[in-house]
Amino acid sequence: MPSIEELYALEILDSRGRPTVQATCTLGSGACGTASVPSGSSTGRAEAWELRDGDPSRYGGLGCRTAVTNINGEIRRALSGREIACQAELDRQLCELDGTSTKARLGANAILAVSIAFARAVAQAQAQPLFGYFAGLLGATPRLPQLTVNLFSGGKHAGGQVPIQDVLVVPSSARCVDEALAMVYAVYQAATALCLDKYGMRALTADEGGLAPPFLNADAMICDAVMAIERAGLRPGEDIDLAVDVAASHFFADGCYWLGHERLASHGMITRIRAWLDRYPIISVEDGLAEDDWAAWPDLNTVLQGRALTLGDDLLCTNPARIQRAVEQYAANALLLKVNQVGTLTEAAEACRLARAAGWAVVVSARSGETEDSWLADLATGWAGDFIKVGSITQSERLAKYNRLLEIEARHRLPFGGDHH
Ligand code: PGA
Ligand code: ZN
Repeated sequence: MPSIEELYALEILDSRGRPTVQATCTLGSGACGTASVPSGSSTGRAEAWELRDGDPSRYGGLGCRTAVTNINGEIRRALSGREIACQAELDRQLCELDGTSTKARLGANAILAVSIAFARAVAQAQAQPLFGYFAGLLGATPRLPQLTVNLFSGGKHAGGQVPIQDVLVVPSSARCVDEALAMVYAVYQAATALCLDKYGMRALTADEGGLAPPFLNADAMICDAVMAIERAGLRPGEDIDLAVDVAASHFFADGCYWLGHERLASHGMITRIRAWLDRYPIISVEDGLAEDDWAAWPDLNTVLQGRALTLGDDLLCTNPARIQRAVEQYAANALLLKVNQVGTLTEAAEACRLARAAGWAVVVSARSGETEDSWLADLATGWAGDFIKVGSITQSERLAKYNRLLEIEARHRLPFGGDHH
């Protein structure tokens, strides 16, 4: 049984230059693990609480010194020298110590940093790769995920020049990560050339590395993605499919979807999404409706059934109770899994288990604020995610994950790709 010898945290910066939390956990055996936590901007309202200092004179209030102090003080005092039976036991103790339903007291950022640092330390103690340890938490058979890679961005990730947030490419005909990345590179290069020709723009990128020219509207954004695939000499809908993160919560106000100059009711939004599906090779629609528009989600799910995944991000917030509700109401059929939305590995595993039990697909996702830590690649592999969603291929905090997938692929003989594409 591992015992925690020492916990140590510090404030580091994420890919947007904002503070986040890194923790190191040392076990009695000497095994040691360090982990950094990501942070979102297009956040769901039901997410666990990311603790920020709120001191406007430092990082505009976004400092994480309080979360760090919570690890170096209270959490360390409670856990160091203690034997911890397993991950679930650690995560339960962290939640109990926090004592709130949203992890608002100690901070979900502090709690998650400890949860993952412990996982890494135990994996090292057991001399197994991190993905193997993660697989053990869920009883899953490791498998490398298919990639979904940001090509074009709008919404909160790109200053809102177009309301929908991301158009992603899915290299469906690839047989391994290595091949998938080479195909994505070709499309990304073609898209860069297209931006220059059509918009007179060099490759200015959004938070997750997607290209962000001034698209006329959402349709143009999706249509340009198809053109980029063709310019790369690949076949849309055969070699490369599309996924869309509509992130509709962020343009929903007063009961309506404000899609550029248009004002759509829920059924109008669903009709629009259906029209996109008729025209473009879209295999996944994330947050096609707003997080609280529960009444309309079953209709969207029905419309998409058999054609594209109804993927819930803000809707579900990796929250077991919300997933349960969505299963019962037939509101979605795929989970976007972001561990920091719920705050511990054990709760994220529970979310994954619920989704799988309902026959859903699982997309393991990074955040817009990421670090160079690569644990997400191990998580997506260990939990046999159908897809991984990391962002684009031009920024090191994204590449840390892709490069880790390449490393896992090269060193371990694992199957690739899920059943859901
Ligand atoms: P984030 O959004 O900015 O909250 O990480 C990513 C997403 O919507 O999938
Ligand atoms: Zn999203």
